Amino acid sequence: MGVAITLQQVSRTYGSAKALHEVSLEFPAGGTTALMGHSGAGKSTLLQLIGGMDLPDSGEIRVDGQALPRRGLDGHRRRIGFVFQRFHLLPALSAVDNVLAPVLPYRVSFDRKARARELLAAVGLADRERVLPSELSGGQQQRVAIARALIGRPPLLLADEPTGALDSGTGREIVDLLLRLRDQYGMTMIIATHNPELAATCDRLIRLADGRVVGDDAILPAADVLDRIGRLG
Ligand SMILES: Nc1ncnc2c1ncn2[C@@H]1O[C@H](COP(=O)(O)OP(=O)(O)OP(=O)(O)O)[C@@H](O)[C@H]1O
Ligand SMILES: [Mg+2]
Repeated sequence: MGVAITLQQVSRTYGSAKALHEVSLEFPAGGTTALMGHSGAGKSTLLQLIGGMDLPDSGEIRVDGQALPRRGLDGHRRRIGFVFQRFHLLPALSAVDNVLAPVLPYRVSFDRKARARELLAAVGLADRERVLPSELSGGQQQRVAIARALIGRPPLLLADEPTGALDSGTGREIVDLLLRLRDQYGMTMIIATHNPELAATCDRLIRLADGRVVGDDAILPAADVLDRIGRLG
């Protein structure tokens, strides 16, 4: 499961600002990548291009080897779950209705309500189906937003500072949840973050600065590092 994403020489300019400059990257299927970099480095721009919510000025983005078209990106967007810093739940809808809202316009082969309930249970909110977002804490609202992102079983999850509006303890719970859901559903994840602790839980760290890739490193799980040190010593 999960899709592979390839960017080839992707550039995006807003006015005179080069948000991304000839970025080439490969995201293998099933990987979990952290994107870090200063404010304005191009992290959100990169996620929006990969998500088909914005178009590059030049260069190409491929999904499982197939180039994204410049028009008719609806099908691509439906393969993606997107999680934002500020949850963006619909205030008048209950938790369960927020979760199923993205698939309401479409004919789907599954029971929307049953899947929304299953996802709310998976994020630990089985007993909060009927409540409004305003009755939930920030961390709980982000859990609903994550369940919503997964309603279409997306092979790709993009998260833009998913813990940015949360205290560190709640942020940690959200990170644990994302990793658990990745293991359960097997999607490719790309997470833009300013949080080094979150980045350290990913298996790869890409650093952007001024629209360019300035670092790209594999992150070894702590157990592997200890194992290596053990073998050296
Ligand atoms: N819609 C837009 N219109 C004009 N300029 C934009 C737009 N979106 C982004 N930019 C510019 O593109 C550059 C990259 O912005 P981007 O939002 O991708 O950065 P970021 O790394 O996500 O920053 P942050 O950490 O603050 O979220 C910045 O210079 C920004 O001002
Ligand atoms: Mg951003």
